[in-house]
Order: sequence, then C-alpha cells, then structure tokens
Amino acid sequence: MMPVDQSRRSALVDSAHAVFRGEFGDRTDVAVALAPGRVNLIGEHTDYNGGFVLPMAIDRYVAIAFARSEGRRVRAHAVRFGETDSIELPVPKPVGAGHWSDYVAGVVAMYARAGDPPPGLDLAIVADLPVGAGLSSSAAVELATARALTAATDRAWDPIEAAQRSRDAEHDFAGVPCGIMDQLVVAAAREGTAMLVDCRTLDRRYVPIPAELRVVVLDTGVGRSLAAGGYADRRGACEAAVQILRRHDPGVVALRDVDGALLDRARHDLDDEEFMRSQHVVAESPRAVDCARALETGDVERCRRLLVDSHWSLRDLYQVSCPELDLMVSLACAHEGCIGARLTGAGFGGSAVALVRLDAVDDFVARIGSAYDGMTGRRAALHVCRPVDGVAIV
Ligand code: GLA
Repeated sequence: MMPVDQSRRSALVDSAHAVFRGEFGDRTDVAVALAPGRVNLIGEHTDYNGGFVLPMAIDRYVAIAFARSEGRRVRAHAVRFGETDSIELPVPKPVGAGHWSDYVAGVVAMYARAGDPPPGLDLAIVADLPVGAGLSSSAAVELATARALTAATDRAWDPIEAAQRSRDAEHDFAGVPCGIMDQLVVAAAREGTAMLVDCRTLDRRYVPIPAELRVVVLDTGVGRSLAAGGYADRRGACEAAVQILRRHDPGVVALRDVDGALLDRARHDLDDEEFMRSQHVVAESPRAVDCARALETGDVERCRRLLVDSHWSLRDLYQVSCPELDLMVSLACAHEGCIGARLTGAGFGGSAVALVRLDAVDDFVARIGSAYDGMTGRRAALHVCRPVDGVAIV
C-alpha cells in the first residue's frame, strides 16, 4: 500500500492534470511543478534581520500543471478561486489586495526584469495546502511558478536565484516586505530534515528530524493578513533600532550584529518598541542555532526550553501572538507527549507548531483539537507533517 502522503501527492498531481485538460484542452507536453508549504520550527522574525531560521518543507502542496502556448501571455487558472487570469507581457501592475494572480504575475515580472522573459504559458493551479494558515501558500505558488517557467524554457534551475526573485515578487506585487525564509525553504528543502539558514550568507545546514518525533501544525482557524501592516511595522522598528545602535557600534549592519550588552548600552536611545523588538531578535536568532544542535544531539529538554522561550518572546516582546495561539500553545505543551510548541510564521493568527513523540501523536491530535474547539467555539485543524524536498518537476 502507498504511504498516505505519497497517495495524497499523486492525487493532487492527477487533479492538476485533469484541471489543465478541462481549462486548456488535451495536450501531450504537460508537466507538473510541485511546491510544498513550510513550517518554521524556530527563528521567527529573524530572517529580515540577517539572523538564523530553522524551517522545513511540509507534505502539503501547491501543484501547477503547465505547458507552453502560443503568444506572449501567461494564462493561469486557480481551482480554489474558480478564476482564470491572463498575464500579458510585459506584466502590468499588480491587481492588489492580495489577489492570487499577483503571486504568479510577480514571479513572471521578476524573471522578465532579470532578462529571462518567459514564453507563452498555460498554468493550472491546485493545492491541498491551506491558505491563510501561516504555511506559506504564497511562497509555494511563487516557487511552483518559477519552477514551471524555468522548465518551460530549459534553463538551469537555481534554487537560490528563484527564491530571491520570488521574494522580490512578494515585495513588489503582494506588498509584503518579507524576508527570504519561506521562499528559500520551499526552493531548497531536503526530505527528512529541517534547514538551518544563515539569512545573511544564505548558508544552509540540513538537520535531520529525529525518527521518534513528529511535527504537528496546529491551525487556530484565526485568519491573518501580513499586508495589514503589523508585519511591516515590526520590520520598520527593527530597522529604526539598527540606525540608533550603529551610533554605539558602527559595525552594526542588522540586528544580527547586536548582542545583549550593546542593547543595554543603547537602551536609553531606543524607544520601548524598538527595544522590545530588538530584545526578541537578539535572543531568537541564537535559539535557532541552539535548537538545530539540540535536535542533532537528541537533547529534548533543551528543545522544549527553546521553543517555549521563543513563544513567550513573540508574545511579550515582539507582540505578534493572539489569545487563540497562546491557548493552542499551552494546551499543546500540557500534553505529556509534547516536546514543545510555539507560534510559527509571522503570527497575528495562523498556526502553532509542536514537536510530539511518535507514540503519542494520535492521542495528541485528538485531545488538543477537541479541547481547543470546546474552549474557543472555533475549529482547529491539526496536520501531522513530514519534512519533504523543496519544489520539483514531477
Ligand atoms: C513570514 C515572512 C518570513 C518571516 C516570517 C517570520 O512568514 O514571509 O520572511 O519573516 O514571517 O519569521
């Protein structure tokens, strides 16, 4: 019997082919670009501060069936929205307000801007990756588009370049000043591992997830929108803090270069917000490095401490949690099979992540889901996830 995730993946790829046929007709040259979502284990809001992150790609996907077409336009059909959009070259301005086709158009525009204008292309997009749950469905759409564009023109695939162009698309077309984490892990993840990334150099170390642990994503059902401003405000406060800290140490380029002693010296020049945001980043980036080491050495106690400290810091210093995320994390941490839990991704709703012992995972999923639903009147969605490879043609 095929493992569950493999059969789910095959079903998704089949459905991408079927949707393509329905929208664009029967063609022989159709391939599928399959891009995973991601969950970040630790190292939150550190990527755009030049620090460390520890994300992994998960076995929930966006699949894009694609084939070349006549003309110079990219036609994209998204099943989830029941819409087909035609992106003419050169690419016009974004639709805005987080329209799904902006993620496709943005990537097309960035490839064109870099001197790699895409050919005419038809795309059919299907997904089993939830939208708005903080699992980077936008990065998955971007990287699947980038992979399809590259394959359609027989260009060499460069995951770093694709991640950077996709991030630029998110800035210019979706209006979210995100870091590189999501796009890079969707582009370059490896099966069975989380990826420790130095977001300044983009150096990566692949850290095996111990076989006796499962990664569980706990979607609170509280929708979130990064473009709404909270994310950009946090990033702005970090950048303002860097300008001030540089007066105390001209070597500071990003919060990555700051330690607790320097922060204390500059305390009176920073406003409360700048100080708290900086405190979080300065402690969170080393936590990602420590957690990678703790996973490698099987130091479960250390993992627990780091995950919980990260959550509290995001709640109290970075102020990106919400009551539902706090509840989910405390319910998860109270379960005897749970190694640790924290909010994951940008925050402001979305999901928490928990590391759970394999032998306890079924009980964990059943009990935490119903406890959360009972206490909030919402519906949690819990996903037991496997670490998978980054985007690929299948
Ligand atoms: C979002 C962004 C990432 C990162 C996280 C917070 O997912 O896209 O670049 O900043 O938030 O760690």
